[in-house]
Amino acid sequence: MENPSSRSHTYTPLFPQVNGLLHGGDYNPDQWLDRPDILEKDVELMKKAGINSASLGIFAWSALEPEEGTYHFEWMDQVIERLYQNGVYTILATPSGARPAWMDEKYPEVRRVLPNGKRNLHGGRHNHCPSSPIYRQKVREMNTRLAKRYGEHPGVILWHLSNEYSGACYCDLCRKKFQDWLRERYHNNIQELNHAWWTGFWSHTYNSFEQVDPPMDQGEHSVLGLLLDWRRFTTNNTAEFIRNEIEPLQQFAPSLPVTTNFMWLFGGLDYNQIAKELDIISWDAYPRWHNEQPLYEVASETAFNHSLMRSMKRGQPFMLMESTPSQVNWMPYNKLKRPGLHQLSCLQAVASGSDTVLYFQFRMGRGSFEQFHGAVVNHTGRDDTRVFQEVSEVGNLMKSLSDIAGSVPTPKTAVIYDWENRWAIEDMAGAAKQDKKYNETCIQHFRTMLRLGEDPDVISSTESFEGYDLIAAPMLYMLKPGVVQRLKEFVSNGGALITTWLTGYVDENTLAFLGGFPGDGLMEITGVEAAELDTLYPGQQNSVRWNGKKYHAAEFCELLSMRGAKTAGCYLEDFYEGEPAITVHPFGKGISVHIAAKVEESCLLDIYSDLFKEKHLGFAPLPPGLEIHSRVNGKKRYRFYLNFSEDSITIPPIPAKCKNMLDGTVLSACSKTELKRYGFLVTEENL
Ligand code: GLA
Ligand code: ZN
Repeated sequence: MENPSSRSHTYTPLFPQVNGLLHGGDYNPDQWLDRPDILEKDVELMKKAGINSASLGIFAWSALEPEEGTYHFEWMDQVIERLYQNGVYTILATPSGARPAWMDEKYPEVRRVLPNGKRNLHGGRHNHCPSSPIYRQKVREMNTRLAKRYGEHPGVILWHLSNEYSGACYCDLCRKKFQDWLRERYHNNIQELNHAWWTGFWSHTYNSFEQVDPPMDQGEHSVLGLLLDWRRFTTNNTAEFIRNEIEPLQQFAPSLPVTTNFMWLFGGLDYNQIAKELDIISWDAYPRWHNEQPLYEVASETAFNHSLMRSMKRGQPFMLMESTPSQVNWMPYNKLKRPGLHQLSCLQAVASGSDTVLYFQFRMGRGSFEQFHGAVVNHTGRDDTRVFQEVSEVGNLMKSLSDIAGSVPTPKTAVIYDWENRWAIEDMAGAAKQDKKYNETCIQHFRTMLRLGEDPDVISSTESFEGYDLIAAPMLYMLKPGVVQRLKEFVSNGGALITTWLTGYVDENTLAFLGGFPGDGLMEITGVEAAELDTLYPGQQNSVRWNGKKYHAAEFCELLSMRGAKTAGCYLEDFYEGEPAITVHPFGKGISVHIAAKVEESCLLDIYSDLFKEKHLGFAPLPPGLEIHSRVNGKKRYRFYLNFSEDSITIPPIPAKCKNMLDGTVLSACSKTELKRYGFLVTEENL
């Protein structure tokens, strides 16, 4: 369904109570109730680190209701009050992310059933049955109590729903709900479902909705429509669970906004759908800094995720809800952030539109799984550690940037990233079985623009295309109803559209378009038809020539038939040598560029450079590692120059009469500014 959101910008800070940006993170005093001395000391340490926010109660159900119907809120009363008295605002969680043992014991239906049909035993987290009426009721009761007790507290500023919702349950309740959901989607007409899912294949035709099972381990996996609809249902059922959480909060604490923490390119839920239930978007960022990739690649992947999050509610800042002050403990190898990188990575979130820098977690837990996860305060309890010092520096940085709160990036470019498209590509049996690299390809296009000084939005195909000059739609395999029409309007009115291989093959049910790809009329815009798709073995290459230069191509090479476009680049090898690989098609006042092969990144950079010049966007290619982001608030523009490289780099000339926000000095127009390794600069200029 189409639901283009408007691009109204009010530049309102997320939290009017707070002067500036939030700095803080997950705080679990419920694990330390027998150590009041430590809880007292925590507040002192928070103040020293420039912390003004704590996320409370995320996994505190056992501490709040240790036995069914027995409640202990006193400790939470005290903590919230003490924090507030010391200038620390509370982000209050609903505890549904993990359940106490008594509940799992007494009500087995709240425990999730796995795809093999077996019900979980008690333990772990993020593993409830989202359909269970008992669990929904328990959550409602708990949320009602929290809302009634804390909804009016001046120190509480936000609801943090549960934690990292994920996964699906395969119990009978969920199976029945899935069937009901299908019944509604297909108008109670099983033939409609059979057609949409193409079930005549292998004689998989259903006679009734009751025959449809979720895709369980021992069940159906070859009907792609089933796989896709199960994922849609899972999103829908999670959204319903979320609404059940929100209702009492809204009833008894109507003034508090609601968020839940999303994850890094998480594949299990269509976050664009979940976003509609929330007031604010927040997410947990755990990049693999200093791994085998160049630093700027990791940085650009992180920037892509920041942008994806912010673009779910355009015109409004997002929140970095979790990040580690030093290292995590759950990756195969848990490396420390090198000195200086912490500040730079925090600043990247702010530069991308976050009004918060929050951590997991404030104080290390003494035992269990997360005892060696990085935290602001480690087991020494001291403030003279390297990590504490670096966190305190971020605290100062956040104070000097407080004017930024409420401002937003307003890029002229966007990358389309769409969960349903991702799922359809993942499930598609063809091309490369395991890895068609949808995420990687979208990030590559994003990174290319980042290297030209742009910070594109990352939007779903059903979002409004208004306000953009250039849209990249890499591998837009699935065309949902209405998308082509809106792309047509976009390009006719002067927009530049970039498409690639695997574009426009299937409709919203994953049925192939008849009459040539890209279907649904998109061919009219691109001016090319994708005749065949060649998938190369790993290590094999072709090459293309574009603008007199030769570039490598690998993995995917689509063979094109021209339908009005001009050839801009050709394949140089194999039986399709001399055939078009990069094409250009003027359409209305705009232009459509098709890149048929997975070309190396320098080729993308050259193609985008040309388009950017034409559209007066961005900069000439920046040194690798330099990111330039900007945020505006109607009066001012804040520009962030971030050096994600191991060397010093020179940044492009800064506009006249800018102020350096970090030291207040006025910068002259012609200054040749150097940023040292991991260095940064934030400028402020009047609009
Ligand atoms: C996730 C969770 C947190 C914590 C961190 C550790 O993001 O939300 O509760 O477990 O991971 O990195
Ligand atoms: Zn279930």
